[in-house]
Amino acid sequence: MHDQRCAYVYIHCEGCNIPEEYLCMEYNYGLVFETQKSPKLIGISLVVIILLSYIVCSALHLSTESWLVVFLNTFATTKPTDCSKGTDFTKRPSFNNNHLTLDLGSDGYLVPNIVHYIWYVDNRHDLSFINMLAIISADRFLNPTAIYFYCNHKPKGPNWDRVMRKVPSLAVVHQRPVTCVYGTPITNPVFGPSSSDLERVTTLMDKGGIYLDLDVIVVRSFDPLRNHSCTVGLETRDKVNSGVLVCHRNSPFLRLWLEHYIADYKVWMWNYNAGWVPAYLAERYPEYIHLEPNRLQRPNGDEIDMIWGPESFNWRDNYAVHLLVRTWRSKNLFMVEEPNMDYISRTNSTFSQLARRIILNQP
Ligand SMILES: *[C@@H]1O[C@H](CO)[C@@H](O)[C@H](O)[C@H]1NC(C)=O
Ligand SMILES: *[C@@H]1O[C@H](CO)[C@@H](O)[C@H](O)[C@H]1NC(C)=O
Repeated sequence: MHDQRCAYVYIHCEGCNIPEEYLCMEYNYGLVFETQKSPKLIGISLVVIILLSYIVCSALHLSTESWLVVFLNTFATTKPTDCSKGTDFTKRPSFNNNHLTLDLGSDGYLVPNIVHYIWYVDNRHDLSFINMLAIISADRFLNPTAIYFYCNHKPKGPNWDRVMRKVPSLAVVHQRPVTCVYGTPITNPVFGPSSSDLERVTTLMDKGGIYLDLDVIVVRSFDPLRNHSCTVGLETRDKVNSGVLVCHRNSPFLRLWLEHYIADYKVWMWNYNAGWVPAYLAERYPEYIHLEPNRLQRPNGDEIDMIWGPESFNWRDNYAVHLLVRTWRSKNLFMVEEPNMDYISRTNSTFSQLARRIILNQP
């Protein structure tokens, strides 16, 4: 409705009859006119705004401090309310916060040859073909002393069964996600893919070793990386990808990084804490972190055709190839087929070559 005498009053009020003078009164006295429809409308608008923000932020992968990001980080975040024993890793008996020495392992390396995977899901579901390849590749080419698979629901399906057959040393560890540290609740992430970001850091602070995303195909031994106190791969000149981390449990870098999750967690800024913060820290504390330039996180998302597309890439010099399947899907408007045995025998992308090497023992 629109009234001539109070030109700025617009009221959405269906099914009720408000006399004109009430409209002006309402405006003048700042009263809120409760109607049956308005709470629903406000609710719907809020949902729409949040959804739109989500889509905009994730589509643009906003990496600068835009006003939208600042606004959302200030007003649209939530924190867990429960910091009980199961969710605060600093309360676990294994947590060590004293005598932070960088001791060599019995095999002569700083970082133990242990692999960690993290899998937190809403519902129990199948392990994908890609996840299966990733785990088998880590087992085969890293030859680790242990592989831990932290999860709330164990995966299922034929690919999971195959992993259990081929990698009998894999230890499933049921646990709740870490949401608190030092009794402080950490802001809940908003982008699904970020949900294990904090836990990567705490997992390595707990045991040390090699954290891998479940779409990282290992190509060769990481031994040359295991004598740095902490290693992460550069994705571009000034940004890392934390899909592969190789760190000693007492690495000073992990503690600096964790501090940012406590005090400076920008959940609405895609990749801020997982991608940019480590790069800033590396600039200030180069002694604490080894940035592996090309052999962990290249090809990157901008070079995705070299992984999934027709462009060829010499992956044999890499330590690993991060498949970035989500980026590949979004580049193709999600119109890509799910890889399987048939797919890898029909195509000759870097991915298919890697997959055939793992599953068909091709050279
Ligand atoms: C790792 O570095 C230490 C010194 O910091 C050295 O004593 C050890 O031999 C190195 N290990 C390997 C396998 O290079
Ligand atoms: C696949 O591509 C690689 C190099 O890009 C080449 O060496 C190989 O012969 C190709 N294999 C097939 C089956 O076309």
